[in-house]
Amino acid sequence: MTTPRPETLAKLTPVLTKRWLSPDAWQIGTYEQLDGYAALRKALKAHPDDLIQLIKDSGLRGRGGAGFPTGLKWGFIPQGDGKPHYLVVNADEGEPGTCKDLPLMTHDPHALVEGVIIASYAIRASRAYIYIRGEAVHAARRLRNAVQEAYDKGYLGRNILRSGYDLELVVHSGAGAYICGEETALLDSLEGFRGQPRLRPPFPATHGLYASPTVVNNVGTIASVPPIVLGGADWWKSMGTEKSSGPMIYSLSGRIVNPGQYECSMGVTLRELLELAGGMQPGHNLRFWTPGGSSTPLLAAEHLDVPLDFEGVAAAGSILGTTATQIFSDQDCPVYATYRWLEFYHHESCGKCTPCREGNYWMVRVYRRILSGQGTHEDLDTLLDTCDNILGRSFCGLGDGATSSVTSSLKYFKQDYLDYIEGRTVPKLSDKQLVGAH
Ligand SMILES: Cc1cc2nc3c(=O)[nH]c(=O)nc-3n(C[C@H](O)[C@H](O)[C@H](O)COP(=O)(O)O)c2cc1C
Ligand code: SF4
Repeated sequence: MTTPRPETLAKLTPVLTKRWLSPDAWQIGTYEQLDGYAALRKALKAHPDDLIQLIKDSGLRGRGGAGFPTGLKWGFIPQGDGKPHYLVVNADEGEPGTCKDLPLMTHDPHALVEGVIIASYAIRASRAYIYIRGEAVHAARRLRNAVQEAYDKGYLGRNILRSGYDLELVVHSGAGAYICGEETALLDSLEGFRGQPRLRPPFPATHGLYASPTVVNNVGTIASVPPIVLGGADWWKSMGTEKSSGPMIYSLSGRIVNPGQYECSMGVTLRELLELAGGMQPGHNLRFWTPGGSSTPLLAAEHLDVPLDFEGVAAAGSILGTTATQIFSDQDCPVYATYRWLEFYHHESCGKCTPCREGNYWMVRVYRRILSGQGTHEDLDTLLDTCDNILGRSFCGLGDGATSSVTSSLKYFKQDYLDYIEGRTVPKLSDKQLVGAH
């Protein structure tokens, strides 16, 4: 196990995670003792437009995967249009490897509730929803309890803290479909329909929930709002890099000594994160990893010093995504890992568009053939050709994301594929598992 050096420990910047280890951090009494609801009091004295400007100035970018500037998104909500406005928090967190929003809601649910109230006030919404993954029963319980506590203390409901502002907040549990994390599918699901992506334009900013102006933001994005209101834009920008400001929760999993959530200024490297996490497990050497979940192209050992911010990861040919850093060693097979991810995308494809529905179905079958020792060289061209027909031709990001590990594993680890095809690697799948592969 590696012991982190002081200079690496200094890379930890606990802002969203700072209360997680406090006793009963999820209860309102603890939260109030540790700065809780102070930002709300401050925000309610400000003009909503000034809050939107503050978030713009902070450079906060969405924590849900795409990194869209949050203040800009809030600014798209038309004002004085006479329509109801909605804030919808995306707490679906279904991306394989991603584990930052559920721990946040479990350990510090009031941070999200306070962020929701401030964000709703800024965009002039009087109703907000938190759409939480159905399986996350424990987190949902904590969240519902926090919402009730906030109502009881006058932070939610009518005339909040005697400001004249009203807000109702509803926690809605989904049914556990990955596609319902895609913002427009989420809105359909929230309205009671089958969760499938909507055609855009029109965008949720003008035609979102119940065809009204809606902001959809990730849990981490909204939970970042109270610290920005308290600390100011310059303080927030003092962490991170020029275009990727603030701290970020990196979820580390896989062949490391201490998996978990590490909140660091954006731009930290995997080398530093590994040091914080105690290093690779004994007997394992880093071989490949995802910087932002299974929808982001794989990176290899040569990318240990890539700055993990939006620009740095893009320059290395991948995507920062949800900062779900899944770490694999020389004892793991990139072909098999990619196959398991594809099984997931195939299962979760909503079926609305042909490239994703059919392409993932066929790619799973090609992988089964290769992994059972019956693949051909032509299969590799078929995989690339299928990806070419999915990427950029699918209705939503699920299809694009499914191709990421296929193309990147073929780029960095083609030899592993050839070893199965040419009989040097013992097949991972049996003939029985091959059923339906031809
Ligand atoms: C298939 C798919 C699944 C997604 N799942 C999530 C999710 O679980 N949580 C989330 O915040 N964003 C998810 N997104 C991204 C959302 O569509 C949206 O960009 C995000 O909620 C916006 O919030 P932000 O601006 O705060 O990042 C997903 C996107 C796709 C294409
Ligand atoms: S890309 Fe996949 S998940 Fe997205 S709409 Fe098409 S079939 Fe559905």
